[in-house]
Amino acid sequence: MTTHPIRIAPSILSADLAYLAEDVLAVEQSGADWLHVDVMDGRFVPNLTFGMPLVKSLRHVTQLPLDVHLMIVEPERYIEAFAAAGADHITVHAEACPHLERTLAQIQETGCKAGVALNPSTPLSVLDYVYHRLDLVLIMTVNPGFGGQSFIKATLPKIEQLSEKLADNNPNTIIAVDGGVSPITVGEIAKAGATALVAGNAIFSAPKEEYAEKILAIRQVAQAAKTN
Ligand code: DX5
Ligand code: ZN
Repeated sequence: MTTHPIRIAPSILSADLAYLAEDVLAVEQSGADWLHVDVMDGRFVPNLTFGMPLVKSLRHVTQLPLDVHLMIVEPERYIEAFAAAGADHITVHAEACPHLERTLAQIQETGCKAGVALNPSTPLSVLDYVYHRLDLVLIMTVNPGFGGQSFIKATLPKIEQLSEKLADNNPNTIIAVDGGVSPITVGEIAKAGATALVAGNAIFSAPKEEYAEKILAIRQVAQAAKTN
């Protein structure tokens, strides 16, 4: 079995956007592994956030891998642009991609890691014929669109089942989880098999001086519960 390290990915959706560079540097210095960037279009989700120019600006201020989560319709129209802006991982929603295999191939052709995100109600079977293309799967544990929502516990069996499926089909694939991740919820999440943990509110609601302890708390609970 391939083992994956625990990775903590602060989501800048909950950062202080007027002082974003300061918050990004603070999480980088506080032990973050990736920086999670939520791109929303007001169509796929009922909220609007960031685009390519922000990714490009972030590329100049941080060494962290930029983990770009596209919550947009027709993501295939923007993949090359996000890659050129400096994204390292590009994750698309299965629900937004009628030609998912092609879209993942398009991401990998840019040199980025390809991810698929699944809404809480989307079954794992949508991944059945694309395992060969998966660098990461992002299991949404809230309905996407907003930070600070409560973790949906009903998604835990999905993480467990994905872990089993990946062991057979592509053990290199990373299981990431997004939504309501905190020291309280992350034990069950990591036990179910997720190793990459996106967290917005649980980190950025604290003062900057406490980011390191917030990140460490999530990491320690995840590490202790980790099964793979
Ligand atoms: C939700 C976003 C998440 C969000 C998570 O649609 O995809 O990345 O920032 O925020 P928390 O950790 O506060 O639930
Ligand atoms: Zn996200």
